[in-house]
Amino acid sequence: MSKILVVYYTHTGNTEKMAQAVAEGAKAVQGVEVELKRQASPWKLADFDAILIGAPTYQHNMTANIRKLLEEIAFHEVNLEGKVGAAFGSYGWSGEAPRFVLEVMENKFRMDVLKPPLLIKYAPDEKGLVECRKLGRDAAEKALKST
Ligand SMILES: Cc1cc2nc3c(=O)[nH]c(=O)nc-3n(C[C@H](O)[C@H](O)[C@H](O)COP(=O)(O)O)c2cc1C
Repeated sequence: MSKILVVYYTHTGNTEKMAQAVAEGAKAVQGVEVELKRQASPWKLADFDAILIGAPTYQHNMTANIRKLLEEIAFHEVNLEGKVGAAFGSYGWSGEAPRFVLEVMENKFRMDVLKPPLLIKYAPDEKGLVECRKLGRDAAEKALKST
């Protein structure tokens, strides 16, 4: 049994729609347990085999709570090495946040990341939701293989 966490922030609901579809995709894989959350304590992350972070872009950056989560993981030295990591998020025109998140996952936390991050402009349409479900499924399958 692999444990998958989808944790996200949203202000206007677009990244939330993505997160729900990502979780749905992961749940479709047999042998995984999926949690979908708006907040997670950094210590809890060590319990999961795959961590998928949903981060919308505001002011060319990730939002303060996502940055805080990443900083706390680093500060408390929560070991995520080798766990599966993925990042996604809604954006309007530049979409930096999921790229930043994935970069930290790969280079600082030494996670086994799925590239590239999944970016969707504003609200996901049906095609976008299919991509989100695929990201969840891919992460869950990768986590299953590595456990
Ligand atoms: C004040 C404000 C600043 C924003 N800054 C950016 C930005 O720098 N780059 C970008 O790609 N999108 C930017 N956006 C667009 C949001 O990323 C977009 O609306 C996205 O769908 C929000 O996701 P959410 O519904 O999950 O909160 C901004 C939106 C607002 C309201």
